[in-house]
Amino acid sequence: MDIVVLDSAEQSADIGAERVVEVFRDQPEGVIGLATGSSPQPLYAALAAQVRDGADFSRLRAFALDEYVGIPVDHPESYHSIIRRDVVEPLGLDASRVRVPDGLADDIDGAARVYDEAIGSAGGIDLQILGIGTNGHMGFNEPGSSLTSRTRRARLTEATRRANARFFDSYDDVPEFCVTQGIGTILDAKRLLVVANGVHKARAVAAALEGDVSAACPASALQLHPRVTVLLDAAAGSSLRSLEHYRHAGAHLISPGR
Ligand code: F6R
Repeated sequence: MDIVVLDSAEQSADIGAERVVEVFRDQPEGVIGLATGSSPQPLYAALAAQVRDGADFSRLRAFALDEYVGIPVDHPESYHSIIRRDVVEPLGLDASRVRVPDGLADDIDGAARVYDEAIGSAGGIDLQILGIGTNGHMGFNEPGSSLTSRTRRARLTEATRRANARFFDSYDDVPEFCVTQGIGTILDAKRLLVVANGVHKARAVAAALEGDVSAACPASALQLHPRVTVLLDAAAGSSLRSLEHYRHAGAHLISPGR
């Protein structure tokens, strides 16, 4: 893993954006995997700035990581809405080339299998953007998820529902179920770009990157992937045993985001 600790989330976002631009420069019709949540927001803002400077993402294909089950796609907190608002519009993606898991299908697991097949038919995900939950989840693969799991319906933990209640009127409004790319699906992506910011992520980040590989910490599956870049701000990296090494990597980036 290429673990880089930077002074700030803004610096991390700029480096992440350069990484994304670099990956798709030679493959303008490539496939990007999109996370929602707070972590990638600065990265998407930095990518929007790259677009204003001439980067063109209009031919990319995109697959979102997850979606809630049972909320209308036009609900402001559905991941359909968030992806459209935070990514498709500011980055100039073609909405017809962007897919989000179907949380309203009659046969959710069938639709989830079709989703995995669509990723395969697109040639696989070239670069998957990821965040890490405070309980170590990745996508909405909560603790206990098989490290070989595929896209499927899953139950959110109370901790995740409480964490995401900030986006809803109340805890009870946060859906109890979701559709998420599986850990196995995520590990199939050719490259993973993980972002985490803030001291509230420090424990999960240390468990994921330096702890045992275990379904108890789904993000520990990152250790099984050969091409992972992890961009952390100083607070999110603060519990890492090898913090000095990762800070040194951040201070001496030869080719930022490589
Ligand atoms: C989002 C997702 C989640 C988040 C994680 C962190 O699509 O799948 O795994 O990345 O919950 O959320 P934030 O970034 O809001 O702290």
